[in-house]
Amino acid sequence: MGVPLRVSAARSPSYFLPFLLGLLSLTAFFLYQLDSLVSRTKTVAGHNLDPTPWHIFPTRNFDEETRQARAYKIIQCSYFSCRYTNTTAAAAAAAASATPTGPRHSKSSAQECPEFFSFIHRDLEPWSRTGITKKHIMESQNFAAFRVVIFGGRLHLDIYYACVQSRMMFTIWGLLQLLERYPGMVPDVDLMFDCMDKPNINKTEHSSMPLPLFRYCTTQNHFDIPFPDWSFWGWPEINIRPWNVEFPDIKQVSQSQRWSRKWPRAYWKGNPDVFSPVRTGLLQCNHSRKWGAQIMRQDWDEAARGGFETSKLSNQCKYRYKIYAEGFAWSVSLKYIVSCGSLALIISPEYEDFFSRGLFPKKNYWPISSVKLCQSIKFAVDWGNANPSEAQAIGKNGQDFMEILSMDGVYEYMFHLITEYSKLQDFKPVPPSSALKVCRDSVLCFADEKQKQYLEMSTAFPSPRPPCTLQPANRNLIKSWLEQKQRVIEDVREMEKQKVLNR
Ligand SMILES: *[C@@H]1O[C@H](CO)[C@@H](O)[C@H](O)[C@H]1NC(C)=O
Ligand SMILES: *[C@@H]1O[C@H](CO)[C@@H](O)[C@H](O)[C@H]1NC(C)=O
Ligand SMILES: *[C@@H]1O[C@H](CO)[C@@H](O)[C@H](O)[C@H]1NC(C)=O
Repeated sequence: MGVPLRVSAARSPSYFLPFLLGLLSLTAFFLYQLDSLVSRTKTVAGHNLDPTPWHIFPTRNFDEETRQARAYKIIQCSYFSCRYTNTTAAAAAAAASATPTGPRHSKSSAQECPEFFSFIHRDLEPWSRTGITKKHIMESQNFAAFRVVIFGGRLHLDIYYACVQSRMMFTIWGLLQLLERYPGMVPDVDLMFDCMDKPNINKTEHSSMPLPLFRYCTTQNHFDIPFPDWSFWGWPEINIRPWNVEFPDIKQVSQSQRWSRKWPRAYWKGNPDVFSPVRTGLLQCNHSRKWGAQIMRQDWDEAARGGFETSKLSNQCKYRYKIYAEGFAWSVSLKYIVSCGSLALIISPEYEDFFSRGLFPKKNYWPISSVKLCQSIKFAVDWGNANPSEAQAIGKNGQDFMEILSMDGVYEYMFHLITEYSKLQDFKPVPPSSALKVCRDSVLCFADEKQKQYLEMSTAFPSPRPPCTLQPANRNLIKSWLEQKQRVIEDVREMEKQKVLNR
């Protein structure tokens, strides 16, 4: 054995050179391929993505990392984070928990869902006759930032455009938590999602072929399907923690101060520079004696420098009246405002998110007119100060409504929406070849420290009981609900008019 070795060693330069060159070119080829893979891989954190063409915004750049670190992260998180999950074990666990066992899982013990869940039927009504076809999905892609295919309890993600800040990461996380919450129960589904603010599927323009597109809000004039927004799992950029942490905190702080000790005026704090006529108009009402209102500008840069202490949501419940004004579209602030237990003064909204449709005027909020804005606010404040126990009761009802909308309620809504949607699909969803599997570890892998902290805080666990029972579709119920709502709002407008006449 020793002799041939010596011979080959002596000859090695002539053998070794082509071998070395081969190795080098192989390595170069491999690196080139790797580089190309890295630059083609789109991620939940926003790598290799442009903003949506229908709403341009500055995308995140990842220059804080070195090129190699970034490449390593993209490959590691995208391709090597989800492979160790044991599908056999997961499927077995899913099947076990989906099988009804014992009285807790019996159908009869499931509670009825809150009334506003009926809007799920209205949102999906445009496809009740045609069903949702492959063609619907492919057309919706023109308006989507990403596509989610849930297949066998696994989430597959096909990404087209970047989303502002960490919206995509937190929205996908929310869907993954839904799969954790109801293992084995979420049906196979194929859906398109846009993560920008404004609804885009105009009912007039798309009347011949309504397109199903999920987003965070809709209007009466759009087909867009509203879905819980990312902030339920947290909004790290402005220090808003997950809803399961934020709500109890707001409630506790708000209850530590008696109604009579709260400032008897209406308060709003936010960003008025968002192309929102209502918010611009609101600046005119900033006079505590004349209009009973205090309008404050939120400066996020300053808030960040001060560790967000002054903008803590629970610290904003010291007023008897809290104003809600829509921004560029709907605003995530609604849930925090109504949670305060103060009387929520909601300026007639144009947009609706999935839960705001459940709020009822004079029951859990006070409707404000956008036409004579300051007068309307002043009227509400005077009414509330003259009728403190009624005002307080409405505020409390608002807070109770938000308590029912715990994360349990959010997952139940997601579950029923996705289930009803899936029933309309006339095809078997299959992940497209361009989609990547996404799981808990792959999202956490892309998260920075703060994001990770929020994601972990909002981790869901299997529900000990089945989801609430969704009422069957009933068009008349929603119609009469909307009519009643309109009547109460008109009553309030009438009260305002009388007051002016009697002056
Ligand atoms: C996966 O789970 C199944 C069922 O629990 C088990 O029999 C199998 O050994 C597991 N495989 C691995 C690789 O852990
Ligand atoms: C929908 O489209 C029609 C026709 O282009 C337009 O007149 C209308 O203003 C649009 N509606 C909304 C809510 O954008
Ligand atoms: C509203 O008035 C208060 C008190 O006069 C002032 O501190 C605040 O800056 C004003 N808000 C805006 C948005 O100008």
